[in-house]
Amino acid sequence: MVRPATAQDAAPAIEVVRQSIMVSCEADHKNDGATLDRWLANKKPESFESWIANPENFCVVAESEGVVRGVGLIHCSGEVRLFYVSPDHQRRGFGRRIHLALESHALSLGLPRMRLESTLLARKFYEALGYIPAGTEKPRFGVLRAYPYEKPLQPDSSIQATALGGA
Ligand SMILES: CC(C)(COP(=O)(O)OP(=O)(O)OC[C@H]1O[C@@H](n2cnc3c(N)ncnc32)[C@H](O)[C@@H]1OP(=O)(O)O)[C@@H](O)C(=O)NCCC(=O)NCCS
Repeated sequence: MVRPATAQDAAPAIEVVRQSIMVSCEADHKNDGATLDRWLANKKPESFESWIANPENFCVVAESEGVVRGVGLIHCSGEVRLFYVSPDHQRRGFGRRIHLALESHALSLGLPRMRLESTLLARKFYEALGYIPAGTEKPRFGVLRAYPYEKPLQPDSSIQATALGGA
């Protein structure tokens, strides 16, 4: 189940984000302490509450068995600013379903494209969902590299995503 996030999701959603960064993104942060500190610095429940209170953002969580397994957030500019699935629930379609909800929102706003900066780990995921590289990699937080991507939107793309197995 994917639904809009609420303030009550702040603590579990941030725990998913932090675990996903620390455990799943090792190839990105290379266990460099300074990089991790900077990356995790704003990954706090109070930050999450301020993000979802901002009307420019649309944020969803994915749940199973009543537990938050993933979170995604898109800004009204079309930029995906948060996208994480719990390490022990990856490759089960949570990410695809979260993305479909963000994409549906972007389409409802009439946006021509979505864009984001991917981790090394997530590149295959985004490419599987139709993203194309949109520039050269950039340094982030220290040893981390951010890979720019974008995805042109067409009014029927959510239908295509559903046909490919989305929610
Ligand atoms: C990126 C991420 C959100 C994907 O979520 P997920 O729930 O695992 O993704 P899904 O199960 O919906 O995968 C959809 C498709 O993407 C592709 N994919 C996803 N992860 C992949 C991987 N590690 N390697 C190759 N392809 C991958 C596959 O085609 C997959 O379909 P399949 O499982 O039927 O083959 C998740 O891996 C994650 O949280 N990573 C760590 C945090 C991160 O890097 N976030 C991105 C910040 S920009």
